Amino acid sequence: MVKKRRVKKSVKIIGSIFIIAIIFLIMLTNYLIKINSIDYKLKEKGYNDEEITSIKANLDENKINDIVKLEYDENLPKLISQKYFIYDKLNLYLDYSKENKLDAKKVISLVNANTYKDHYTDIVKTDTSLNELLIVNKYYQLSSDYEPEDLIEVPTMYAYSGIKLSNVAYEAFKELFNAAKSEGYTIVINSGYRSYDSQEAVYNRNKNNYGTTYADNFVARPGHSEHQTGLAVDVADYENSSEDFEKTEAYQWMLDNAHKYGFILRYPKDKEDITGYSFESWHFRYVGVDIATKIHSLDITYDEYYTYFIENK
Ligand code: DAL
Ligand code: ZN
Repeated sequence: MVKKRRVKKSVKIIGSIFIIAIIFLIMLTNYLIKINSIDYKLKEKGYNDEEITSIKANLDENKINDIVKLEYDENLPKLISQKYFIYDKLNLYLDYSKENKLDAKKVISLVNANTYKDHYTDIVKTDTSLNELLIVNKYYQLSSDYEPEDLIEVPTMYAYSGIKLSNVAYEAFKELFNAAKSEGYTIVINSGYRSYDSQEAVYNRNKNNYGTTYADNFVARPGHSEHQTGLAVDVADYENSSEDFEKTEAYQWMLDNAHKYGFILRYPKDKEDITGYSFESWHFRYVGVDIATKIHSLDITYDEYYTYFIENK
């Protein structure tokens, strides 16, 4: 009888230990799950619920696990939710945001366009195999001997005399010219292809006459001009050639229609900090109809487009 009671007691004790052990294991598992959860890690770093929602909506788990290795940064949730955010540039965005009180959209634009850096720094040779999609700006250069293979002389019906263009841009310009003409505008080219040496002459003339700051705002240094690609045109309204092009109806027509023929306004108003150039109402660049149409509807510069849609892919 006593023995039976003892056995019962032992069973009870073992049972209790077993249950306690199970409860402990469950609690331990729950705890481990919790401290390894993304939400917990982000909270521990200092991110609030709203920021955590933004981070989880914009980054995959691997990237979030990298982010929790960094210090808390109040700019991060805003940066990662921007349309043109590129994860590989995260540290550049964070550093630039810290140094400059700018909104996240602007930081993304400037970093993607490279203009967060001093002009003409970290210059690289541009990839000319991209043909009409190649980029030339203050950070991407052409070699001094680069010359487009399909240069042709533009007939004087479309341009002032002696102007050359890449054939692909010329063919597109003819269509643009005819469309504008049918609506009453005569839009002619007053500058097209410029060799490295002629760009150097234009730059030096401006620098000598108006100073380096002015020259750099309006004229590319040799090797850095789209005119050397044969894909850029400076245009004028033939009927109002003495008028500032910006003030003409022909300019408005170009703004509304140039993309349909593959041309973009390359240095728009209010985007000087992104392009690195003052507004040039007359300078259009051929990129092809599809890309021009996309750039027109997205309302971004070619510098931003190139980084996000071409280099990033
Ligand atoms: N005016 C433009 C920037 C050029 O010189 O290419
Ligand atoms: Zn130009």
